[in-house]
Amino acid sequence: MEQEREDLSEKSSVKHIGVLTSGGDAPGMNAAIRAVVRKSVYHGLKVSGIRHGYAGLIAGEIGEMDLGSVADIIQRGGTKLYTARCPEFQTDQGQEKGIEMLRQYGIDGLVIIGGDGSLRGARALSHRGVRTIGVPGTIDNDLPCTDYTIGFDTAINTAIDAIDKIRDTATSHERTFVIEVMGRNAGDIAVISGLAGGAESILIPEAPFDMEQIFEKLERGVERGKRHSIILIAEGVGKGMKIGEQIAQRTGWEVRVTVLGHLQRGGSPTAYDRALASRMGAMAVDLLIQGETSKMIGIKGKKLVATDINEALETTREVDLSIYELAGILSI
Ligand code: ADP
Ligand code: F6P
Repeated sequence: MEQEREDLSEKSSVKHIGVLTSGGDAPGMNAAIRAVVRKSVYHGLKVSGIRHGYAGLIAGEIGEMDLGSVADIIQRGGTKLYTARCPEFQTDQGQEKGIEMLRQYGIDGLVIIGGDGSLRGARALSHRGVRTIGVPGTIDNDLPCTDYTIGFDTAINTAIDAIDKIRDTATSHERTFVIEVMGRNAGDIAVISGLAGGAESILIPEAPFDMEQIFEKLERGVERGKRHSIILIAEGVGKGMKIGEQIAQRTGWEVRVTVLGHLQRGGSPTAYDRALASRMGAMAVDLLIQGETSKMIGIKGKKLVATDINEALETTREVDLSIYELAGILSI
């Protein structure tokens, strides 16, 4: 495993790489930062961290990173570089300020780690001539051209841990629970954690549902001796509290509602997320060295792929409805 450094600084299309995290944080972002920094150093390139996403880019919150600066972070949730939302970066003026800052610091290649909005920022930069590679980091798993985004695996594991715990108390009290999970416009967290957690019903924004059918399913369950039920709802569908009230009113049962919220964004990343983030971060550096730009990295099966960022942002992403349907069949 011992590797000699492979100095590519002469041959490389970029000499100084900048890395930032933007939008909602996701477990595994630190592993991706570590990979960008260490792979850059391994190849003899200078690397700087940009704090607070695009806001920090505009403000010049930029500092050089070395091997030690990313020690002891692979196992940590959140992002060492902090993250932010920055409406100014959606304007021409904001983007020009950012590019000026990159010039000042001599950064000629960028790795952007974040979700859909962050990758739109990456596209804007690459269209303005900055060599930029996007790495998908969001718990929502709502990006096309990749099977998984960094953070999703950890989030679903956090969600099923919570579902299992809630099921214990639901069973003891013979109650119905509504659990709201994250997913701004996407049902992936709800579908996979619902299947893995054995939820009785799953409500997602991508599939129409009829509350009447949900009530009937709940009642059928009770008729055949079911003592508790778990209804999982993706936040993109609406408020779990409201669904809980509707069920209570219609059935007359005692219903409890739990909103998992930002719990799902934190915690130590799973092995899958750490490995995925490490591979993606390293590939981003390879692509920049090779002179690539305007690409989003993804994983298809076991292989990493790089897709044109325009294509990635313009492709409509769909949740796998066959998994959603299977969850329905198995919870009949
Ligand atoms: P996420 O990356 O998790 O989807 P957001 O949608 O909030 O999070 O986007 C994060 C940041 O990316 C925004 O605050 C903004 O700075 C930048 N961004 C979003 N959309 C665009 C866009 N169309 N052009 C340039 N920058 C954008
Ligand atoms: O995109 C990730 C996500 O966690 C969504 O699931 C959620 O809707 C959103 O971010 C919440 O963002 P924040 O609380 O940071 O504004």
